[in-house]
Amino acid sequence: MCGVVGYVGQQQVLPLLLEGLRRLEYRGYDSSGVAIQRGSKPQLAVFKRQGKLENLVATLPAKVRATCGIGHTRWATHGEPNDVNAHPHTDAAAQIAVVHNGIVENASELRARLQAKGIEFQSETDTEVLAHLVAEQQTLLPEIDLTTAVRLSLKQVVGAYGILVMDEREPQTLVAARLGSPLLLGVGDKELFAASDLGALVRHTQQVVYLEEGDIATLTPKGYVITTMDAQIRQALPVTVAEDAESFDKNGFAHFTLKEIHEQVDVLQRVLGGRLDERFATARLDGLNLSAKDRLGVRRIKILGCGSAFIAASIGARTIERLARIPCDAEPAAEFRYRNPIIEEDTLYFAVSQSGETFDTLAAVQEVQRKGGTVLGIVNNVGSSIARACDGGLYLHAGAEIAVVSTKTFTATLAAFCLIGLYFARGRDLSHSEGIAVVQALQLLPKQVTQLLEQAPGYATVAKQVARFDHAYFVGRNEGYYLAMEGSLKLKEISYIHAEAYAASELKHGPLALVSETTPTIALVPEDDLVAKNLSTIAEVKARKGQVWVVGQGAVPSDNAQMQVMSAHPITTPILMALPLQLLAYYVALERGCDVDQPRNLAKSVTVE
Ligand code: F6R
Repeated sequence: MCGVVGYVGQQQVLPLLLEGLRRLEYRGYDSSGVAIQRGSKPQLAVFKRQGKLENLVATLPAKVRATCGIGHTRWATHGEPNDVNAHPHTDAAAQIAVVHNGIVENASELRARLQAKGIEFQSETDTEVLAHLVAEQQTLLPEIDLTTAVRLSLKQVVGAYGILVMDEREPQTLVAARLGSPLLLGVGDKELFAASDLGALVRHTQQVVYLEEGDIATLTPKGYVITTMDAQIRQALPVTVAEDAESFDKNGFAHFTLKEIHEQVDVLQRVLGGRLDERFATARLDGLNLSAKDRLGVRRIKILGCGSAFIAASIGARTIERLARIPCDAEPAAEFRYRNPIIEEDTLYFAVSQSGETFDTLAAVQEVQRKGGTVLGIVNNVGSSIARACDGGLYLHAGAEIAVVSTKTFTATLAAFCLIGLYFARGRDLSHSEGIAVVQALQLLPKQVTQLLEQAPGYATVAKQVARFDHAYFVGRNEGYYLAMEGSLKLKEISYIHAEAYAASELKHGPLALVSETTPTIALVPEDDLVAKNLSTIAEVKARKGQVWVVGQGAVPSDNAQMQVMSAHPITTPILMALPLQLLAYYVALERGCDVDQPRNLAKSVTVE
C-alpha cells in the first residue's frame, strides 16, 4: 500500500526522503514522487515517476538546497499507475503539495463540485481533490493558516487518509493528518519526520509520536502542535520505540524473505520469553487483562484476521480447542464484519494482525466493540491502530517484517496461540503434567527450528522439481488442512504457481478430477491418528499419475517423505511443518526468477478495503 514520508529541519531533505521511500518500498508500490521547497524564497518543486524508485532518482536535479519536503510511494487505486497519477499532487497554482495514503470515498462528488467552479484536474486520482480543497479554503478565507485550511478541507472528506501537506507560502512547515491510515511523527533535534511506517524514520530518531484518529499536526523545526478536528490542542509526548534499525536491513541475506525465515529461531524465543511459567505449568499473559474469573466465564472464542493472519487464527483455534476444550473458530475479518455478526456476552474475540493496520481487521474489531464485545489483539507492530483499538492482547515481538509475505509472524502467531491455549487450559481442566508437556514442547521449538533450517538445501532440491509445474495441490487434515492453505498461499504469492489447498478428505469429492502428471500434490502428514487416512489419499493421487511430495513427521511411513520434520507435541507440530512450506515457496520463486520480496500486485499492509 501507499507510503508517505516527510521532513522539516536543517538537513538536506532529498537524500532523507529518498532513504525513507526506500524503506517504504517493501509495502508494494507502482510509482513514487517527492515535493520539496527549494531556494531561499522557497518554491515548490515536484518530481514523480511511474515504476521503481530508480526512475524517480533519474529525474532529480544533481544539486538542490532544500530542507523541507514530502515523499510518496503509490499503490494505484484511483487511476492507473503512471507519472501523472503519481503523488505528490498540487493545487492549480502549484503552491500546495499533498501526499496521501488511503481513499477519499466521496472524491467524485468533490471533483464534480470543484470542476463546476472551473478548477482543472491533472490526474484521475482521489488525492488531487485534497490539494484543490485546501486551495479553495485559502481563497475563501485568506487569513487562515495551512493547518486550518487542511482542517476545513478534511471536514468535507469521507474516507480514510494519512496525509502530508505543504505550501510554499508557509516555508519550513508540514501539516500531517490521519484518519483510518497510519501516520506517526519522529522527533529529532530541531527537526521533525513524519511517515506512515516506523521503518522510514527509525534510523534518524527513536522518539516517536503516534497520531490518533482525527489528529492534525503542524510540524516546524521548532516542534510540533497536534490539534483535533475541532481545533482543540491535544498534548502528546513522544515515546521511545525499541525497534532495532537492523530489522530494516537484509544483513547479508539475498532477500528479506529468507532473512525473516531464518529469524524464526530468535523470534520464537522472544514471543515465548518470560511468558512460560514452569512452576504452575501455564503461561503468563497479563496483557490480556483477564482475571481468573473472567477466563472461566469464556464459553466461546472467535478469532478474526485476513490472509495468513486468518490461517494462523484457524490453526490457533484448533490449538485452543485441543488444550482448553473451549469451542473456538476463526473467520476472515472482512466476511465477519459484513454479515451482521451476533456478539455474545460470553464469547471472547481475538484479532490477529502483523501490521496492526489491516483495514478489514480493524473494522471487525470496531464492529465487535460497538456491540459490546471484548477484543484482544495478537499484533506485531507496537502502537499500531489495531493494537491501540483492542481491549488488551499480546505483542509478537517478531521485529519488523519487511518482505511482503508473512513468515516469521505466521509462526510467532501460532506460538502465541499455544500460550493462549495453555493459559485458558490451565485455568480449567488441563492437568499440571499435561501443562508441563506443553511448556517443554514450546521450549524445544528454537532448537528444532534451527535443525529444520539446516535442512534448507534439501528443500531447495525439491523446489527445483516443483518449479517446473504451473499448478499444484496442497492437502492435509485438521491443522494440516490449514497448513496446506498457508503452503499454497505462500507458493502462489511469490512464485505465481496456481496452487489450491484442500482438506485431504475432500480430494475425492471433486478436485481429484484435475490430478494428473501436470498437477503435483504436496501432502501434510503429521504423526497422528490420521496417518493411515493421509497415506491412502496419497495413494489415490499416485494412482492418477500425480506426483506427491510429503511434508512428513517422524516415523511416518512414506516413500515420498522428502521434507522431513522431527517428531513433536501435536500443538507445536504446525509451527515446525510451516518451515518446509515457507522454504519451498521461497526456493521455487527463486527458481522461477520471481521478485520474492515484492511480489506483483501485493502490498505489505492493506490499509484500504
Ligand atoms: C500473506 C500475507 C497476507 C497478510 C494479510 C494480513 O503472506 O502476508 O495475507 O497476512 O494481508 O496482514 P496483517 O497480518 O498485517 O493484518
